[in-house]
Amino acid sequence: MKVILYMATTINGYIAKPDGNTEWVCETDWKVLQKQLIETDAVIMGRKTYEISEDDFPYGDCLNVVLTKNKSLLKDTNNQFFTNLDPEQLLEKLGKRRKQNILIIGGGEINKLFVENGLIDELIISVHPLILGEGIKIFEHFGKQVDLDFVGSTEMEEGLVQLHYKIKR
Ligand SMILES: NC(=O)c1ccc[n+]([C@@H]2O[C@H](COP(=O)([O-])OP(=O)(O)OC[C@H]3O[C@@H](n4cnc5c(N)ncnc54)[C@H](OP(=O)(O)O)[C@@H]3O)[C@@H](O)[C@H]2O)c1
Repeated sequence: MKVILYMATTINGYIAKPDGNTEWVCETDWKVLQKQLIETDAVIMGRKTYEISEDDFPYGDCLNVVLTKNKSLLKDTNNQFFTNLDPEQLLEKLGKRRKQNILIIGGGEINKLFVENGLIDELIISVHPLILGEGIKIFEHFGKQVDLDFVGSTEMEEGLVQLHYKIKR
């Protein structure tokens, strides 16, 4: 199984404005995400990202997993799995369902949960050419140091720079 975190950020590490607005995320990044989704078996997101996604949900043709502690939202259908499993149990369950290529797509709470628990293999970060004064961080309330190996970078249209890292084991 390979677990990749895919995220669009400002140069100072924000993924949304304080009200959740991400209208600064460019079309180029959206197209790259769509390509990535073709080779993805399951995306995992937090309930707040699910809610703000509106018509973009479900993403791609893969299984869309939403983490929530709200029991009234829990469901398990062909392409949607709303769950309160802890992250390790969730990945185990996805493995049993033969989901091998997993994409973590935010937000800040879910990113932190998976990285702090050592469950991410790679990060693909699309750095957008802007600074936000405040907002939602790529890793909310992150409490440790995680070392990375640099894999590569790609310059794209609209001033986007995509950074690719592996988690150092
Ligand atoms: N720039 C980007 O690439 C990008 C990508 C994705 C999202 N975003 C932005 O990120 C923002 C959302 O990020 P966020 O950090 O506020 O929220 P989030 O990570 O999307 O969702 C947080 C929610 O996930 C659930 N959750 C967290 N830990 C859990 C656990 N251990 N078990 C089960 N459920 C758990 C909880 O849902 P309940 O409250 O229901 O229990 C919690 O409120 C949005 O504004 C979105 O626009 C940006």
